[in-house]
Amino acid sequence: MKNVFISDHPLIKHKMTKLRSESTEPKKFRELVREIAGLLTYEVTSDLLIKDSRVTTPLAETKGYELREKIGLIPILRAGLGMVDGVWELMPSAEVWHIGIFRDEESLKPVEYYNKLPVKPRVGLCLILDPMLATGGSAAATIDILKRWGVSRIKFMGIIAAPEGIEYVHKQHPDIPLHLAAIDDHLNDDGYIVPGLGDAGDRQFGTG
Ligand code: PRP
Ligand code: URA
Repeated sequence: MKNVFISDHPLIKHKMTKLRSESTEPKKFRELVREIAGLLTYEVTSDLLIKDSRVTTPLAETKGYELREKIGLIPILRAGLGMVDGVWELMPSAEVWHIGIFRDEESLKPVEYYNKLPVKPRVGLCLILDPMLATGGSAAATIDILKRWGVSRIKFMGIIAAPEGIEYVHKQHPDIPLHLAAIDDHLNDDGYIVPGLGDAGDRQFGTG
């Protein structure tokens, strides 16, 4: 599908297997979320705009490059928090803006509870971070918020998606690229991704 990118990286596949395992403890789980987010960053950022610069090495002055765009990381609370450090380590000048959304357990609809975006965007590219794209409601709602805010370029970075969620987000926002580590089989009746990894928030924070 256009604008959906699934990583084929062997390290990601290896780490995904450990992430999915029910025997992986929260400490290891958080480590894996951070590492997978870092590896995905390499692929998600391959089209970032750069500009020429100069640099002086110990031997000579030479041509260099620097990023042209200011980047915003938008983790969706809670589970998206675990992806921040993996991405931020590689782009320390990025700004981080949190959006709080949870799924209503009955309706599975997204409920927004936190948003402290400044009045006007100061960033050119926003990377939405959330490990799970299930019905797609939380991702689509966040994209709506960022579009209303006036951001010109948005990408979604996730770890596991259900086909139903990809279709939903793609229908609402065909212009937004979705970068993922895996697409799973289906959503169950409770809105969980199968086989998935369970509840990404609970597994990171030891709750549930
Ligand atoms: C999870 C996950 C996504 C959302 C995905 O969050 O982190 O934000 O569900 O589901 P959707 O695609 O059907 O919207 P959850 O609501 O469990 O909140 P939490 O991260 O605070 O645990
Ligand atoms: N949120 C999760 O954390 N896991 C799922 O499988 C679906 C939504």
